Amino acid sequence: MNCSDSVLVTGGAGFIGSNFVLDWLANVGTPVVNLDLLTYAGNPANLHSVGSDPRHLLVRGDICDAQLVSALLLEHRPRAIVHFAAESHVDRSIVAPGAFINTNIQGTFNLLEQAKAYWKQLSDSGKETFRFLHVSTDEVYGSLEPDAAPFSETTPYAPNSPYAASKAASDHLVRAYHHTFGVPVLTTNCSNNYGPFQFPEKLIPLVILNALEGKPLPVYGDGRNVRDWLFVTDHCSAIRTVLEKAKPGSTYNIGGNNERTNLEVVTAICDLLDDLCPSAELGSRRNLITFVKDRPGHDRRYAIDATRLLHDLGWSPSERFETALGRTVNWYLNNLEWVNNVRTGAYLTWIKTNYEGRSA
Ligand code: NAD
Ligand code: TYD
Repeated sequence: MNCSDSVLVTGGAGFIGSNFVLDWLANVGTPVVNLDLLTYAGNPANLHSVGSDPRHLLVRGDICDAQLVSALLLEHRPRAIVHFAAESHVDRSIVAPGAFINTNIQGTFNLLEQAKAYWKQLSDSGKETFRFLHVSTDEVYGSLEPDAAPFSETTPYAPNSPYAASKAASDHLVRAYHHTFGVPVLTTNCSNNYGPFQFPEKLIPLVILNALEGKPLPVYGDGRNVRDWLFVTDHCSAIRTVLEKAKPGSTYNIGGNNERTNLEVVTAICDLLDDLCPSAELGSRRNLITFVKDRPGHDRRYAIDATRLLHDLGWSPSERFETALGRTVNWYLNNLEWVNNVRTGAYLTWIKTNYEGRSA
């Protein structure tokens, strides 16, 4: 059996996955089969602009469903699987870790099993070209001291949250399927993303919307935790690069060289909004910053060393944090209908669960 030129994307209705599908159709242009369970985080509206594009097929289904995954592989004969589907929010993994074990570990295991069976049936040239690209996170490496060197691909795994532990487990399974069975896998570990279509439970969209509406801006602990921020389209281009150029079995760290404390991020958003939509009533939106009870086990610092990706494959980020953050703020201001549609009853329940009892 030969491969077609299509790709199977999992979780392509979520934040990064939907950006990737749009980026892929614009830059590569071959068909995408998009398998997504449409959990609270998956939103077909993210793909509205390709709604009638014959190159995109959205299939609602679970990556844990062996029969469905097998049938999709045999029907569409993709040349690659790009695996984004996951439970992705650390705070939710603290409140209810079960779904993380199921989707991130069991779901990745099922995908690997189906991919192995499919790959074995391919012709020699199909076997040569097929890739399973697993999208993972820098959180598997744990927390860095302020003066420690950034995470490299050889940093030992030390996951600290149930989310990070479930992603670490899935990374290990992916590695094992290459080592033991020869499945041509690739793994990428990326730092924090921001940009359009991010669900407003994560720091940047949550703060943009609260600041716009004059609500308190909840900063965990002392606000000096550091993240290494990457604009989402840079993550998409890095994944495309790894998919096309990397050797099976390799892993790549992806990062923006853009370390910021949470307080720096929040104040930058306040200042952008004060410029774009000044409010005499609110004055400086920095006044809305409210320090709240810290996240249990909160990792202090993440930072990525993406040298291997630059040296081996020639990739580096294109966006600057200041300008791309401005574009992100503008995107939310221009897409308030999207915002109102995702802030449904279930979202409001989550906000109550996470922030009640975290008083300053
Ligand atoms: P997200 O939560 O926005 O989207 C996840 C998507 O997966 C949703 O569309 C959801 O419906 C789908 N999904 C969940 N369970 C599923 C299941 N069982 N079967 C099929 N689909 C299912 O997540 P995101 O922020 O876009 O992250 C995508 C991937 O990138 C994840 O694997 C995450 O670990 C990784 N990652 C995220 C970041 C970040 O900053 N957001 C950074 C590095 C890596
Ligand atoms: P988040 O966007 O949840 O990403 P991650 O936990 O995967 O890094 O959080 C980014 C940082 O912002 C993290 O240090 C936790 C912090 N944070 C707050 O201070 N307040 C909040 O309301 C949220 C959601 C996050």
